[in-house]
Amino acid sequence: MADAMRLAKRLDEVGFSDIVQVRNKVMELRAAGQTVHAFHGGEPFFETPSTVKYALICAAAGNKTRYAPSSGIEPLRHAIAAKLNARNGLEVSAENVIVTTGGAHALYVAFQAVLDPGDDVLLFSPYWTPIREMVTGCQARALLVPTATARSAGLTRTLEDFSTPHTRAIYYNTPQNPTGTVFSRQEAEEVAAFAKKHDLIVIADEAYEDLVYDGEHFSIASLPGMAQRTISTYTFSKTYAMTGWRVGYAVAKEPFMSGLRKLVLYSVNGVSTMTQWAALEALRIPRSDIDARREEYRQRRDLLVNGLNEAGLPCEMPQGAFYAFPRVTRISKDSRTAAKMLLTKAHVATIPGVVFGGQGEGHVRFGYAIDPQAIEEGLAALRKYLLP
Ligand SMILES: Cc1ncc(COP(=O)(O)O)c(C=O)c1O
Repeated sequence: MADAMRLAKRLDEVGFSDIVQVRNKVMELRAAGQTVHAFHGGEPFFETPSTVKYALICAAAGNKTRYAPSSGIEPLRHAIAAKLNARNGLEVSAENVIVTTGGAHALYVAFQAVLDPGDDVLLFSPYWTPIREMVTGCQARALLVPTATARSAGLTRTLEDFSTPHTRAIYYNTPQNPTGTVFSRQEAEEVAAFAKKHDLIVIADEAYEDLVYDGEHFSIASLPGMAQRTISTYTFSKTYAMTGWRVGYAVAKEPFMSGLRKLVLYSVNGVSTMTQWAALEALRIPRSDIDARREEYRQRRDLLVNGLNEAGLPCEMPQGAFYAFPRVTRISKDSRTAAKMLLTKAHVATIPGVVFGGQGEGHVRFGYAIDPQAIEEGLAALRKYLLP
């Protein structure tokens, strides 16, 4: 009897994120009336555009409230395909697009569609934490490839070093969370050549495609021969400040698209119909608005990163996304201890780097998608704590 009271074995190794613990601690401090300089989050600083909110209301009032096709409403899938052709250089049509419950769901179904138990997946590390759990949930194994080593010693060589006979896929995130690293076109070409040589599938995560400050975003699936072997994932969360709406999409060819369709059908049976009509409106937002936001992020990035360096936390200038990843070894070599000290002594909330893989140890992640004044205040608190 007691034997029945156990979780499915494939979940044994799947953990919860430490990020939640930081969030809880921040709430606790705030509830106790303390000021907290909140750099631990990863959500855009602005509100969802009003045209998007209005589209949701109109969809509800217009009774667009029934089941939609589980892969997504036609107009949205067509608009996404047009965007992918124009912006990402992907030659795709609506049949190659599936609407998902955010980028996280797109990634989840992508890994589920590709991995068998015993497969290995190469992840550039530091990596976005949920990825390892998604891989583990497929009873597959994450092989952590240090990004810094790969970039200095050569991507191909490093991928060769970390690969095994069981390697099935590469997770390719650019711009990266947590480091803000942006892979160049040349780097994408190297990863693509490696994937082709070893007959691997690429799972591309382009959640921050519109947040590149230096250089340009490049979609790996646009390279010759890559569309067949890549599942590319995107989200409305970051570009349009729609984190709570839970809408994103995946792009793939067969046989993977059929796999994604099955998984979306039997997990959520499609994203909320009204949300999809609102997402369609988001795609009508002019490029100039997105570019203007990016400039605002750039100012925040410069403010924070220069301030961190001045306060004695060495930090490279991130090229994309909205995170900075300074070294904090002068506080403690253990990033959990460093983050704890920053929170309790300076009331500065960050995420310990080790949460993003062993390669993140000695660092903490600061999110700078917050008010510039809040950045200034956080930096003042840091200086007070760190500088004599
Ligand atoms: C690298 C990366 N990929 C994907 C996502 C997924 O975002 P969402 O599920 O909100 O679309 C995030 C969110 O933080 C992220 O940082």
